[in-house]
Amino acid sequence: MSSTTVELRALREPFDRFVELLGVAREVGPERLPEPTAFALGTVGPNGQPSVRILLLKAVDVRGFAFYTNYESRKGGELLAHPQAAMCFHWQPLERQVRVEGLAERVSDEEADAYFASRARGSQLGAWASQQSRPMDHPGALDERYHEFEDRFANGAVPRPPHWSGFRIVPHRIEFWHQGASRLHDRLVYTRDGDGWRTEVLFP
Ligand SMILES: Cc1cc2nc3c(=O)[nH]c(=O)nc-3n(C[C@H](O)[C@H](O)[C@H](O)COP(=O)(O)O)c2cc1C
Repeated sequence: MSSTTVELRALREPFDRFVELLGVAREVGPERLPEPTAFALGTVGPNGQPSVRILLLKAVDVRGFAFYTNYESRKGGELLAHPQAAMCFHWQPLERQVRVEGLAERVSDEEADAYFASRARGSQLGAWASQQSRPMDHPGALDERYHEFEDRFANGAVPRPPHWSGFRIVPHRIEFWHQGASRLHDRLVYTRDGDGWRTEVLFP
């Protein structure tokens, strides 16, 4: 790679760029882009086996990209054992893709409590009811557990389950891809360098 394509950029820059694109994606509207915050999350399991699934982004700032899940799920266990993670957003109507690579860290209890409290009561009860990623021993087990917790918390607020919280992916690489004519796409990669980022343009 020629050094002429390498430049140093401020810490905020790729996050600001991401937030701006997410704003444009939200403006597309639910008919053409129903879940603008959806992304594929790749994690590493035993023996280096990757696994991937779709999640929803709940926060982004210069610290990284945060989402919520069950820490006892497959992805939860994988991230707690191997923090290396990858995210991929695809905004088809924008002809754009953003790829993020980094290390997962737990969000603070305060942050998780605040987000959990903002969820609908049904989703809060669902977080208690679902033993995410574990086998169900009989059909109906999920509904039974849901009603069990509905009764348990009938007289007040639903607290956040201890195993339900968030991860923040602290990125060391962020790539912005923009579709071009004749497959001559733009690829701009930010790689963490000290307090800022090094950028490079890649062949598509
Ligand atoms: C559009 C969409 C959004 C989703 N959002 C979340 C989410 O924010 N958190 C979550 O734990 N699972 C979410 N899921 C479910 C996950 O894809 C996955 O099935 C679940 O988390 C279990 O994954 P695991 O067994 O690899 O841990 C979502 C699925 C879809 C299709």
